[in-house]
Amino acid sequence: PVMEELLGRQQQEAALAQKLGIAHCTIVAGDSTAPTGSLMGLARAARQVLADQLPLGASTVAVMGGHTLATVASVLTPSLAVNRHLLFVPARGGVGESPAIQANAVSAQMAQRTNSDFRSLFIPEQLNTATYKPLFAEPAIHEVLELIAHSNVVIHGIGQALVMAKRRNIAPHVIDDLTAAHAVGEAFGYFFDAEGHVVSKFPRIGVEIEDLAAKQLVIAVAGGAEKGAAIAAYMHLAPASTWLITDEGAADFVLKK
Ligand code: F6P
Repeated sequence: PVMEELLGRQQQEAALAQKLGIAHCTIVAGDSTAPTGSLMGLARAARQVLADQLPLGASTVAVMGGHTLATVASVLTPSLAVNRHLLFVPARGGVGESPAIQANAVSAQMAQRTNSDFRSLFIPEQLNTATYKPLFAEPAIHEVLELIAHSNVVIHGIGQALVMAKRRNIAPHVIDDLTAAHAVGEAFGYFFDAEGHVVSKFPRIGVEIEDLAAKQLVIAVAGGAEKGAAIAAYMHLAPASTWLITDEGAADFVLKK
């Protein structure tokens, strides 16, 4: 791109970061939720931000699931692990996604693509509290939960509330409650309204939004005009250190609001 375009993009990124109250935004061309949209631009931008921002040396990287993060995983290469020792873990247990986009699968793929290590967390979705609490004490699970708790880097997606509720087969009466509470977005198993009020939080284990402020690097990857409201809403909850990688579809939506 010519210089003017680059400058225009940088100004747009700064304006978006300011509007969302976060440190950094990267905006790529296109609209990933449009019918002809693609997640590849977001994925390549995420690869570049990781190459530039991941600390050198040892890191434990906690990752969420979803199509966006699975696409990020698919573009990583061993060069990311030059001068770094990376251990990938799922950021949360049991998010009830189809296998290829589960956090476990994404973390394993990131590790395989970068010749790094990974650990999986085997806890099924839809367990009630009484069932999963004793699992915490299981050594194999406890060990991975400790790794997640001590992760220094988090990479996550953001989704639309109702899209995510349906994808996770949440009961119709719970979906009605989310609708009544005006839930617009979802991240880390939290559902929130446009002001960033958490309206529902499903009992899960792993990284909580409150934990993010203490992390060295937090990268959110989410784009598309359809996700604009969810992204803007989530940023009320996000730590200011969050680095958002998004696209023009979502950026235009947020900047016009
Ligand atoms: O379920 C994991 C998750 O990261 C959610 O927290 C998020 O809302 C969603 O996936 C994003 O999925 P996608 O990239 O497919 O839109």
